[in-house]
Amino acid sequence: MQSKDRAVMRVLAGEKIWPPPIWMMRQAGRYLPEYRAVRAKAPNFLDFCYNPDLATEVTLQPIRRYGFDASILFSDIFVVPDAIGYPVRFEEGRGPVLEPLSSDLVDRLEQERAEDHLKPVIETVSRLRAELPKETTLLGFCGAPWTVACYSVAGHTTPDQIAARVGSYRHPELLERFIEHLVKASIRYLIRQLDAGADAVQIFDTWAGVLDDAGFEKWSIRPTKAIVSGVKAERPNAKIIGFPKSSAARMETYIAKTGVDAVGLDWTAPDSLALEIQKKVPIQGNLDPMRLVAGGQALDDGVDHILRTFNKGPLIFNLGHGVTPDADPDNVARMVERVKRG
Ligand code: CP3
Repeated sequence: MQSKDRAVMRVLAGEKIWPPPIWMMRQAGRYLPEYRAVRAKAPNFLDFCYNPDLATEVTLQPIRRYGFDASILFSDIFVVPDAIGYPVRFEEGRGPVLEPLSSDLVDRLEQERAEDHLKPVIETVSRLRAELPKETTLLGFCGAPWTVACYSVAGHTTPDQIAARVGSYRHPELLERFIEHLVKASIRYLIRQLDAGADAVQIFDTWAGVLDDAGFEKWSIRPTKAIVSGVKAERPNAKIIGFPKSSAARMETYIAKTGVDAVGLDWTAPDSLALEIQKKVPIQGNLDPMRLVAGGQALDDGVDHILRTFNKGPLIFNLGHGVTPDADPDNVARMVERVKRG
């Protein structure tokens, strides 16, 4: 089967398919007992991302269990800064911890390191394409520079990204220099994923929604546009999904200016806006992941609402953000079954 014939790829090309294809952000993750068992073998999270055996295995787990229509490479957005020499580590119970952003640190970044450093991730992509069912779309990804930078300004995340916002006003030229590095490395990284067998790629901008209008233009749209143009300049047929979270009100501008082929929506997107967006590009989303924690009627209602509201155009069923560790795997099965009934 050719890439363009896979269901998710057909929707990304603008076709409406019913029932819609489905996958789930963070589908390889701690809500699955089989993921936790593999994760226990790799105490260092980044080492886990750079281990093709383990990364391939956990990427395939949710495909075996649920038969999702797309598989997303198991990796993390922080492999890109790590690859160019930005100090990053994951602390148990705390998440990513980075060295606070400084001019000296940016001076020390080296694009040339990335090629070798990311080889194991690219190898995971090739193995996945070989092992996945032929009809399953393989998605690659990277973090949008703003979202990666959010964790770097203070060295960790802060509520509503206040540290990153203050940093963006006080030292815009420093942030700009770091973001240029991330843009450059992300373009190469996405192209290599596509060449190794990824059918399409997604750019995760989880923290786009904390920015004001000027900030959204400068820190979310501009770098994303640079990545999209950079990838498409070399791979004109590449399909790119943008996911600027909590940004439904700015989505039309984002689409027009960045040139993404489709967008992910979160659960706070008003239906009326989401329907307008769906007239422009295929949409992906947007079940509240907490409905997978609650289960029962709340889950069924959430699924039905999306199916009823967006059945006139191209839809890839997904969550509005990643599945959480407290979600019940049986609820995921219930969601998939209900979506497959259409
Ligand atoms: O299944 C998949 O979706 C593929 C793999 C994937 C991971 N992270 C694995 C992961 C993807 C696509 C990501 C993207 C990512 N990582 C984003 C953007 C999307 C989003 O969810 O907002 C962000 C902001 C990160 C950064 C990150 N990685 C944080 C803040 C954390 C710690 C918080 C947490 O959930 O533990 C991680 C760790 C991480 N990345 C885990 C997984 C499965 C959990 C780590 C573990 O197993 O201990």
